[in-house]
Amino acid sequence: MKFDQVREEIPALQESLYLNTGTFGPMPRVVVEELTRTYQFIFSKGPFHPVVKDELTKGYLKARERVARLIGAVPQEVAFTRNVSEGINLVAGGFDWKPGDEVIVTDQEHESGLLPWFHLARTRGLQVKILTLTNSHPQILSRLMDLLTSRTRLLALSHVTCNTGLRLPVEEICRIAHKKGIPVLLDGAQAVGQFPVNVKEIGCDFYAACGHKWLLGPMGVGMLYIHPAYLSQLQISQIGWGSFSTFDWETYEYTLKTSAERYEYGTRAVPLYMALEKGIEFLSAWDLQEIASRVAYLVSYTKDRLLQIPGVRIYSPLDPALSTGLITFSLEVIPSEELLTLLWSRWKILGRLVKKPDGVRISIAFFTQEAEIEVFLQGIEKIVAERRKTHGL
Ligand SMILES: Cc1ncc(COP(=O)(O)O)c(C=O)c1O
Repeated sequence: MKFDQVREEIPALQESLYLNTGTFGPMPRVVVEELTRTYQFIFSKGPFHPVVKDELTKGYLKARERVARLIGAVPQEVAFTRNVSEGINLVAGGFDWKPGDEVIVTDQEHESGLLPWFHLARTRGLQVKILTLTNSHPQILSRLMDLLTSRTRLLALSHVTCNTGLRLPVEEICRIAHKKGIPVLLDGAQAVGQFPVNVKEIGCDFYAACGHKWLLGPMGVGMLYIHPAYLSQLQISQIGWGSFSTFDWETYEYTLKTSAERYEYGTRAVPLYMALEKGIEFLSAWDLQEIASRVAYLVSYTKDRLLQIPGVRIYSPLDPALSTGLITFSLEVIPSEELLTLLWSRWKILGRLVKKPDGVRISIAFFTQEAEIEVFLQGIEKIVAERRKTHGL
């Protein structure tokens, strides 16, 4: 299937000029068909019917295998979560924090990559240190080294930041941290599905991601990779029937599952994960590297054109090696919130507002067409020309 043909499989792309996969990916037909098929099956047979039970068990297993393969892990190392926030919270809740322990985050984390740590600062006396990012990898690494102390217990950073789409030098970060015995949690919300991710090659200890963005899965599916060395060490903050391997009704003694499944404490919306599996299968028709190259080409072109427009400021990196499908920019002549509203009302362009830096973020995906980018760029050119005229510039 060619990149253009994929659009017929994603009807939502006819309804808007969709530049917001970084928030939610539009679902392809196969994902929705799987959801409908599975729920219809449960509806017609009954939830605990043996054939239903059998199919859901197999489907859940298959989904875990597919997700594990996608990120270069094995199924035992992958816990299904409902979202990235849950994955980060499972890690945050699994350490025995002492007052004064330090966690390093960046100044470009999602709120969900900050709140668990600031909450622990409030409740347990954790110290949160902020790594200020720049669009230079050597500078990021040297700033990181300056922040490390003997009290650093964890690095909790994005693989790709949601604010500007900056790709962090995660392999080097893990190497630096591990030399000092510090584990690394990566937030892969904006990475998985954009380009190949291999947690073993990266060398991270924890990797939290979701299925509802670049993997084009349904809302409410996530995954957490846990390095085997941490499977027994990361304490369980939530526990239930899904966590135990044995439970004695006389003594109430229990043993926990040895796999990452121990973090999945209760009933899961299995059909969602089965649909996610179809989303990943759909994406697998292409090489993720091929997807990344196409997006890189479109992104470079868009940035070059934007830079020719007077008063445009691009916050995302310009270096292709540091770039992804996210572009965050602002215009001198119009506040970002107003710009976003105008883009929608005039051309049905859907992007997202970013608070820090204050700008509009667009997401370019492999199914984005050159013609759509042209509409977007001409829209920006038009808005700038009109505003400059009004301001007598
Ligand atoms: C980098 C990053 N982390 C975390 C999240 C939160 O994801 P979820 O809603 O799956 O918890 C997002 C969502 O946009 C994100 O971009």
